[in-house]
Amino acid sequence: MSSRVPLTYGKKVLELFRNPKNLGRIEDANAEALAGSLACGDMIAIYLKIDESTEKIIDAKFESYGCAANIAAASILTEMIKGKNIQDAWKISWRDISNELGGLPPVKYHCSVLAVGSLKRAIRAYYANRSKPDWLPEELTQEEKHVIEEEKLMEILAKRIQKTEL
Ligand code: FES
Repeated sequence: MSSRVPLTYGKKVLELFRNPKNLGRIEDANAEALAGSLACGDMIAIYLKIDESTEKIIDAKFESYGCAANIAAASILTEMIKGKNIQDAWKISWRDISNELGGLPPVKYHCSVLAVGSLKRAIRAYYANRSKPDWLPEELTQEEKHVIEEEKLMEILAKRIQKTEL
């Protein structure tokens, strides 16, 4: 008998896991980013189509190779940012996503951090060859730092697993 306790996901998380909105890629995206690591499978790719003149996000899609919370978080995030200007989208926190989903189990907070981290990375990518707005901080946010830490950890774990398999 398994000793694992099933996670209690809310209705919204399960609904978006089964029927995610905005799943897929935008072929002519003008901003995109990856967060996570293919090595362990917890990964989100986010694609944005931004109107250059109004700086509004006119379309947002994602691809996810993660858990139910990862898929639900990315799905709700893309819904939340569509129609928003980039600055407002930048302000969305992992907690906003969790709240919008009706809450996440604490062990799944990082799934929502990963979603926000990928969005912030995509926004930075958008401004990589454009003049940076004043509101965009030079220093990485906590969410971006957390994503980098997770990516490093995943690399270490993947290398250890590879070694034990040899
Ligand atoms: Fe890693 Fe959900 S994204 S457990």
